[in-house]
Amino acid sequence: MTTSAAVTTAAAASSIALLAYFLSKFYNSNHSSASSSSENELKNGLIEAIGNTPLIRINSLSQATGCQILGKAEFLNPGGSVKDRVAVKIIQEALELGLLAKGGIVTEGSAGSTAISLATVAPAYGCQCHVVIPDDAAIEKSQILEALGATVERVRPVSITHKDHYVNIAKRRAVEANEVALKQDIAKQTNGKDVEQSNGDIIDGEKQDTFFSRDCKGGFFADQFENLANFRAHYEGTGPEIWKQTGGNLHSFVAAAGTGGTVAGVSRFLKEKDPNIKCFLIDPPGSGLFNKVTRGVMYTKEEAEGRRLKNPFDTITEGIGINRLTENFKMAELDGAFRGTDLEAVEMSRFLLKNDGLFVGSSSAMNCVGAVRVAQSLGPGHIIVTILCDSGMRHLSKFHSAQYLSQHGLIPRANGLEFLGLRG
Ligand SMILES: Cc1ncc(COP(=O)(O)O)c(C=O)c1O
Repeated sequence: MTTSAAVTTAAAASSIALLAYFLSKFYNSNHSSASSSSENELKNGLIEAIGNTPLIRINSLSQATGCQILGKAEFLNPGGSVKDRVAVKIIQEALELGLLAKGGIVTEGSAGSTAISLATVAPAYGCQCHVVIPDDAAIEKSQILEALGATVERVRPVSITHKDHYVNIAKRRAVEANEVALKQDIAKQTNGKDVEQSNGDIIDGEKQDTFFSRDCKGGFFADQFENLANFRAHYEGTGPEIWKQTGGNLHSFVAAAGTGGTVAGVSRFLKEKDPNIKCFLIDPPGSGLFNKVTRGVMYTKEEAEGRRLKNPFDTITEGIGINRLTENFKMAELDGAFRGTDLEAVEMSRFLLKNDGLFVGSSSAMNCVGAVRVAQSLGPGHIIVTILCDSGMRHLSKFHSAQYLSQHGLIPRANGLEFLGLRG
């Protein structure tokens, strides 16, 4: 072949390669937009925009472990967390069952995310939100709640067995709201006379009369720990989405538990689809669930909630770890559990930010520690899904504060994943 013929042949070959490249781009972009059209179509209001979150391959962790590690990006929900789904399900079921009236007040005892989600979605149902929150939760959470229009009570953290635990107070507030509404109904029936004029009572005999106005339409206690609407949100939503997004091609799911709704709903759904999918818990310091899953006992007598002399400080992670067995957690189908430390979660969050641009909160970071632990136990070649629950934005005053971390001896120092025994 002459030089000029060789040049012509090479030019033709590169034109064909370029054409093939552009054709494949064109085909793929058309193909992918067609296949995801249902997710991309117009949403009829905020509620329809909840769920169908992306499943993101976490490239750094996948490369370091030889597995595909996939994070369900729940922080992209409109209310900023995995709890949007739960808030919707709880309110919808309560309205359908007539337990909550339109215009009524949803009360919840929550360290943050569920309350923020309830406050976010309640107006879309014409409802309001009253939240009781422990006063050691990150301050930005109550600031957000108030900005969303919820009423917030910050209370001293005490054991769940104490009548003034924030969950128990929230339950009481719903009863109070119902009493206010009932008394107004009675007043209306007695020629519009004001309640106190008609019977001289004050609500519930408590000094702190009531948080609720006279035109309140009653209350409903969301009860995220025991209300199985929480489990159903994940069994009917998160689980099926993961199944669809992976085409049923996954080997394992791992997540930490707060109420247990996520790990229970997702694990039960996936196991029903394919019993070979291994489902695991990752448990933060101070939580009794690791023992429950691995040994069948929740705690020693001394550790049981309600028996501790004072509220112990166990972990800087928020929303995960618990020392009682909730109705939601009881629905979980688990093959095992791992323990994670606070330092591992802190290091993981910094690693994800540096390597993947993922800015996540403490529970998401702990979940990714869990994903790596699962990868190490199953070995390379497995597809592992976890949950990216909320964004680091919610954790600026604690988990993402250098000052706070140094006070707790948790300054991250790793260059890679050596804190989990990996090069990466
Ligand atoms: C930020 C965050 N992540 C994770 C969880 C745990 O999820 P679940 O309650 O479904 O176990 C919670 C629960 O409150 C949370 O607030």
